[in-house]
Amino acid sequence: MGLATVSGAGKGSNRRGFIMANSKRIVLSSDHAAIELRQAIAAHIAERGFEVNDIGPVSPESTHYPKHGEAAARAVAAGDADLGIVVCGTGQGIMMAANKVKGIRCGVCSDTFSAQMIRTHNDANMLALGARVLGEGLALEVVDAFLSAEFEGGRHGLRVDMIKGIEG
Ligand code: RB5
Repeated sequence: MGLATVSGAGKGSNRRGFIMANSKRIVLSSDHAAIELRQAIAAHIAERGFEVNDIGPVSPESTHYPKHGEAAARAVAAGDADLGIVVCGTGQGIMMAANKVKGIRCGVCSDTFSAQMIRTHNDANMLALGARVLGEGLALEVVDAFLSAEFEGGRHGLRVDMIKGIEG
């Protein structure tokens, strides 16, 4: 699946054309259980200046989270997006699917501390959220914590390399 829908300010500029600090490309996907939250996240991070590729779905019919987790993960693994955010009812199933794609490190977070730490220590390139677990306000704070943090490297780099080694 390609990156069908492009929304947001894009190319690191906001709606008034000012250059923003955020130029990262973020891919989003979800299943049917999380369309509203995913769209709220897309609008929120576009407002913050991120380039957003929301690959859906948009229709509310029941759909299978593995294919949506895989689609976002493949975009990150291919370098078409810098980071990914995936959402399902709990965040767990779509996280498991995303983590099957080589090069993906995706964690489910329901608190801002964990969301920051999976970037700084684990170099996570994807965040998973549960739309039936978190309210929108907290979910957006968790997203902000994830997107504001950077990998620290150093001793954490060795450990992330060990994770990569398990992939073969
Ligand atoms: C869908 O009912 C639900 O199973 C899914 O959104 C997710 O929670 C799976 O992990």
